[in-house]
Parts: sequence; C-alpha cells; structure tokens
Amino acid sequence: MNPQALSRKWRIEKPPAEATTRFCLMLEKIRKLEKKTFPAKEALEITPELIAKSNHVLFIALLPCPGEDLLVGYAICARWQRRLLLHKVCVSEEHRRQGVGKALVNEVIKQARHAHCRGIDLWVDESRASARALYHQAGFCERDHINDYYCLGRNGIKATLEL
Ligand SMILES: CC(C)(COP(=O)(O)OP(=O)(O)OC[C@H]1O[C@@H](n2cnc3c(N)ncnc32)[C@H](O)[C@@H]1OP(=O)(O)O)[C@@H](O)C(=O)NCCC(=O)NCCS
Repeated sequence: MNPQALSRKWRIEKPPAEATTRFCLMLEKIRKLEKKTFPAKEALEITPELIAKSNHVLFIALLPCPGEDLLVGYAICARWQRRLLLHKVCVSEEHRRQGVGKALVNEVIKQARHAHCRGIDLWVDESRASARALYHQAGFCERDHINDYYCLGRNGIKATLEL
C-alpha cells in the first residue's frame, strides 16, 4: 500500500481530559509508548491530573481498528505565559514516515496560534535526527546547543518557532 493511502486512515484528536475509563486506558497506552521510546528518566508521567491542568494539551493520533482504535502517536504541550512548550511528540515505530508526526506538530502549531502564543519552544536530543528533521520541516529554528543536557554525552538542542 502506498504511504498516501495509509496516511488517510489515521486521525488526530484532542481528547477531553475527563477521568473516564476510556481516557485512563488511553493514557496507559501513551505511557507504554513513552516508556518504549524514551529513556526511563525522561519519560513524562502523563496522568489525568497533568492533562486536566488548564495549560496542558494532549493530541493523539488514532488509527480506526475494529473494536478499538489503535493509538499510533501523541504530542503533549504546555502553555507558559505567551509561549507554548512542546514537551513530546512520539509516533509508534510501525507507523512512522506516514505523516503522523507532521500532523501532530501542525496541531500543536494551530493550538499555539489559537492560544495567541508568540512562539513555540522545544528541546531535542542532538542525536534524534528524525525529530530534528521534522521540526526543521515545520519551520523551527535551532537556536541553542547545550552539551550533556540530557546526561553525559547526550547534548540538547533548543529549537523555536516564532509565530
Ligand atoms: C520524530 C517522529 C515523531 C517523526 O514522526 P513521523 O510520523 O515518522 O514523521 P512524519 O512521517 O510526519 O515525517 C515528517 C517529516 O519529518 C522528517 N522525518 C521524519 N522521520 C525521518 C527520518 N527517519 N529521517 C529523516 N527525516 C525524517 C521528514 O522531514 C519528514 O518529511 P517527509 O516525509 O516529507 O520527508 C518519530 O520518528 C518518533 O516518534 N521518534 C521517536 C521519538 C522522538 O524522537 N520524538 C521527538 C523528541 S520529543
């Protein structure tokens, strides 16, 4: 199947932060994907309480499946004064390179505009080439570089998008 055909199947949602069973199960799936993708000490503890905070926004990418939609990615961001901090964007390995990450980042940009933010900030591990390419494509500029930002030998890059 060509990538265009695949990309039409998933959709992006902003789930309401209610402590329903469905929402809690979704967060559990996000936590699993987060743990699988990021080193343990960088895994963000995504709880209903965190998402319920008025300045936090979660976007999820779902692939319709019989019975239950499959979580294929998520993005989480937080508003701080007139800026948005993009905490995480993550797409499950099997669904990468199909436009999901791009769609999630575009939703974050839309959210920032909607909230009248002046810009979006993020930190990314220097070695995460796919993420850096994704942010670059979305218009982010790399502005700062800090050695050993994550841990010894893992440097961090700050990127921003001014709106
Ligand atoms: C980074 C990540 C979110 C990208 O998600 P994705 O759904 O595969 O990205 P997309 O298919 O939407 O790609 C959008 C653009 O990103 C860039 N990109 C994505 N993956 C890439 C790769 N492996 N190599 C080079 N560029 C890549 C390309 O510019 C691409 O545009 P193109 O398809 O027109 O070339 C995904 O690889 C991921 O979850 N990685 C692990 C977690 C992570 O590093 N998160 C970011 C730090 S918080």
